[in-house]
Amino acid sequence: MENNEIVNIKGLIKRYPIGGGFFTALNGIDLVFGTGEFAGLVGPSGSGKTTMLNIIGTLDSPSEGTTHVLGHSVGDLSQKQAAKLRKIHLGFIFQTYNLLPVYTVFENVEFPLLLLDMTHGERKNAVLDALKWVGLTDKIKSRPAQLSGGECQRVAIARAMVKKPAMVLADEPTANLDAANSHHILQTMEKLNRELKTTFIFATHDDKVIRYLKRKITLEDGKVVQDETS
Ligand SMILES: Nc1ncnc2c1ncn2[C@@H]1O[C@H](COP(=O)(O)OP(=O)(O)OP(=O)(O)O)[C@@H](O)[C@H]1O
Ligand SMILES: [Mg+2]
Repeated sequence: MENNEIVNIKGLIKRYPIGGGFFTALNGIDLVFGTGEFAGLVGPSGSGKTTMLNIIGTLDSPSEGTTHVLGHSVGDLSQKQAAKLRKIHLGFIFQTYNLLPVYTVFENVEFPLLLLDMTHGERKNAVLDALKWVGLTDKIKSRPAQLSGGECQRVAIARAMVKKPAMVLADEPTANLDAANSHHILQTMEKLNRELKTTFIFATHDDKVIRYLKRKITLEDGKVVQDETS
């Protein structure tokens, strides 16, 4: 691993079994992401964006080729090792928010911190900061069912960023946000990226996100067809 390299993908192929055969979702990907990148995977629906984020996030593994994340080979990690890597270093914003319905906004955002060695006071400060980033301090006692779609999305964003992970993987993070909220959240992410060198990798169709990207990687049919840095 080179010094500032956080993700290294070589010859990555991902096949899913379907109906006795296979569907090739990623078909020979070679990509390197440096620490502190603010990059996005773009491309049509079904091109493999979520599949690639899942592999980078150690939630799925390559069928062929390798993906190294922070120096660890994703396909070779045990469940336990992968869970530890995610718990400490990775933040996720999923296409579906995956909020815990019985928990309040505060508890949902606090959840990833319970796995870390932090005091109650440290956790509280971190959660309140994260809720400030997404503009939801007035909803800390609400439960997901009492929130709008955009508000749920902002809770999910706060939860992904609360522990200030090395890397945030964000799948369509602004799908349900209006222009003002998207802009505000992207600015917060940019700030974390600048000040903490947090690496961001997005999967998105949204022009509001694409405008902020410093690197835009276009996927088509499981292949990289364009890789532009601005
Ligand atoms: N578990 C699975 N089993 C079988 N096929 C799958 C599975 N997951 C994804 N696929 C297929 O792999 C392809 C890539 O899916 P993926 O979710 O990565 O696309 P995407 O680029 O994220 O699309 P979108 O923009 O709609 O979110 C799709 O054709 C999808 O149907
Ligand atoms: Mg997707």
